[in-house]
Amino acid sequence: MAQVKVQAIASMLHSKDTIPPEFVRVEDEQPGATTYRGPAPAVPVIDLADTDRVVDAIADASREWGIFQLVNHGIPAAVIGELQRVGREFFELPQEEKESYAADPRSGSIEGYGTQIQKDPNGKKAWGDYLFHNVWPPSRINHGMWPRQPSSYREANEEYTKYLLGILDKILDSLSLGLGLEGSALKKALGGEEMDMLLKINYYPPCPRPDLALGVVAHSDLSAVTILVPSDVPGLQISKDDRWIDIDYVPGALIIHIGDQIEILSNGKYKSVLHRATVNKEKARISWPVFCSPPPEMTVGPLPQFVSDQNPAKYKTKKYKDYQYCKLNKLPQ
Ligand code: OGA
Ligand code: NI
Repeated sequence: MAQVKVQAIASMLHSKDTIPPEFVRVEDEQPGATTYRGPAPAVPVIDLADTDRVVDAIADASREWGIFQLVNHGIPAAVIGELQRVGREFFELPQEEKESYAADPRSGSIEGYGTQIQKDPNGKKAWGDYLFHNVWPPSRINHGMWPRQPSSYREANEEYTKYLLGILDKILDSLSLGLGLEGSALKKALGGEEMDMLLKINYYPPCPRPDLALGVVAHSDLSAVTILVPSDVPGLQISKDDRWIDIDYVPGALIIHIGDQIEILSNGKYKSVLHRATVNKEKARISWPVFCSPPPEMTVGPLPQFVSDQNPAKYKTKKYKDYQYCKLNKLPQ
């Protein structure tokens, strides 16, 4: 049976101030109770075109924050605008039409339309639906999982992906140089041209109780790097110095998350960022992360340069698909 999507539940709610109990987070997760409202430092905003400073800026932000906003990244606003338009139009299609893209848990693939990806120990649900499909490399793209409506969906996504490849290279180059490695070192360790790019569209319907629910619960991304297009409805929060703080919306910026694989390769010198998504009372929130990861069979572990008797490996060396299996099933790594 098809999973009931949050968008369908939200559209049937009659009450303006209650939500079904399975969406009410336990108290220490509730954004109303746990968001830090005091003055907080802002996540670094980095100019990708500032060639003199960009390497240090990306390396510093990835050591201290695990997240930064990237401006002057070279993707035309119209290309991002189209990506957003076609994604939003997909979620505005009738429910039955979206269900024809439903993710099939038996397929062994994450691709498709769904809700609630991780098991929750308290049986709670997140206030959001999603669409996943691969965008790179061409050999791993399954166009059957890409929406056929709106008709410009494919072109808009292909155009956006073309730009992403160059940006990912620049980020990995800076991260490598920031560790004293050759510019190509991290990309090589992540599979080079075989790196996977998986697009997710998060759709968080308006929620009568944004103080009690979460769109995505606290997690770090399993990817190496995540490149996210936000919308102007903010909601992304990160945990910094044990406080949940809001990320400002910077028009036109891409939000770059350092994921677990970069933390592992650098043996902890770079940090993957703990983050979560809140929801909005009046407006739907949409975000477009692209998870850039090694191919499933690639073996990942701390690079030998960062392991010594004084500084032992903090992470296992194993296949990326094994890291993925443990993460999705909430098993120890
Ligand atoms: C995610 C995620 C954040 C957001 O999907 O992994 O962290 O702002 N999303 O939607
Ligand atoms: Ni995430």
